[in-house]
Amino acid sequence: MKQINIGIIGFGTIGSAVVRAIKKNKSIFKKRTGWHINLAAVCDKNPELFRNSKLNKGIIKKKADDIINNPAIDIVIELIGGIYPAKEIIAGALKNKKYVITANKALLSNYKSELFRIASDNNVGLYFESSVMAGAPLIKVLREGLIANRIESIWGIINGTSNYILSSMHNEGVKFKEALVESQRKGFAESKYSLDVEGIDSAHKLAIISSLAFGQDIKLKDIYVEGIMNISSADIMYAKEVGYTVKLLAIAKNLRDSIEVRVHPTLLPKGHILSNVNGAYNAIYIRSDLAGDLFLYGQGAGGDSTSSGIIGDIYNVISDMEKDKFRKLTLLTSSLSRPKRIREIDEIESCYYIRFMAIDNPGVLAKISGILGKHKISIASVIQKARRKVRAVPIIMLIHRAKERSLRKALAEINKLSAIKAKPVAIKIEQERQL
Ligand code: HSE
Repeated sequence: MKQINIGIIGFGTIGSAVVRAIKKNKSIFKKRTGWHINLAAVCDKNPELFRNSKLNKGIIKKKADDIINNPAIDIVIELIGGIYPAKEIIAGALKNKKYVITANKALLSNYKSELFRIASDNNVGLYFESSVMAGAPLIKVLREGLIANRIESIWGIINGTSNYILSSMHNEGVKFKEALVESQRKGFAESKYSLDVEGIDSAHKLAIISSLAFGQDIKLKDIYVEGIMNISSADIMYAKEVGYTVKLLAIAKNLRDSIEVRVHPTLLPKGHILSNVNGAYNAIYIRSDLAGDLFLYGQGAGGDSTSSGIIGDIYNVISDMEKDKFRKLTLLTSSLSRPKRIREIDEIESCYYIRFMAIDNPGVLAKISGILGKHKISIASVIQKARRKVRAVPIIMLIHRAKERSLRKALAEINKLSAIKAKPVAIKIEQERQL
């Protein structure tokens, strides 16, 4: 019998789910591949996590070193997340000529080149299918299925927690905080949930997939990031009234002379396919020159879905080992052209939803529209939500396509008007199915 020996580092939500999934489906895996997955070792810095695990005591190790230095282990699966000590553990395992599987998007977003170099120098591989969209096989599609294509753009929803929060607020009127707690309870949120709601988790994932798609090392610092913390229930309801849904989108475009990479809340028409991606689901469009438009949809967070991607990677390792050669398709397929400039957010153009909180006095609207006009920003429609003399009232404007730079200047100017009582909220609008 052919047997692959794996060691798992990290027995939290994902690590324990992977162990359960292997137990449940290892016979299917064996029938399909001829290989038996043997869980040879597992460790976690918190021994309490093993208390009710029913694991054979002999395989529970105290330290990561007990796994990465064990000659019997073929594959190390790193599931502790974060940068330190995950980076040292992965580097150590690769240097010991272990194949490594990780779901660690935060680490890969910044250190992928370095880690892939170590893997290549040691003639082993680093696998990361579940780092983006969990079990939906996006990495395989980008790396193998679309190998003949020039990828023009990738965009969609790649953070389950934010999508869970926004869709609960939109569909059921649940408050932000309640929805966040529920997504934590369901095991979607990062242990540091600010990574989810500040858009950073989406940016980590976008760094990985845009690097892979465009053949250039794109890091977290290159990406414009705006999260969903400032999206109020009121904005969601006003947007809904005018036929839109708020989603946190990750967008990467391979332009002629530059690359655009950004994560921010976006209004989408309610009939748009992404408006109907609810809960912790993720969905991605890929536009490429030969295959055209593709759409991948799936459960982008949670133990089962992530386990599916990880076990898929065990198969990838086996097939590479069986071919007895290191997979040449590393993360950064040698760049096809010189690295392109990354665009500043100020350079983009978009339509916008804007909410002002203004005192309802004669001439206020004229002043606001005067400033917008001066900056060549054209208003598509205006709604005032109430009529009160003393307290500020919400004024919602939908804006035709405008330059981000002009909009920012105009909003800064409007914010100084005495009738404006809170910083204006601006959310980009996308009308099209594809950007
Ligand atoms: N916290 C992540 C999410 C987990 O909500 O998408 C999956 O990467």
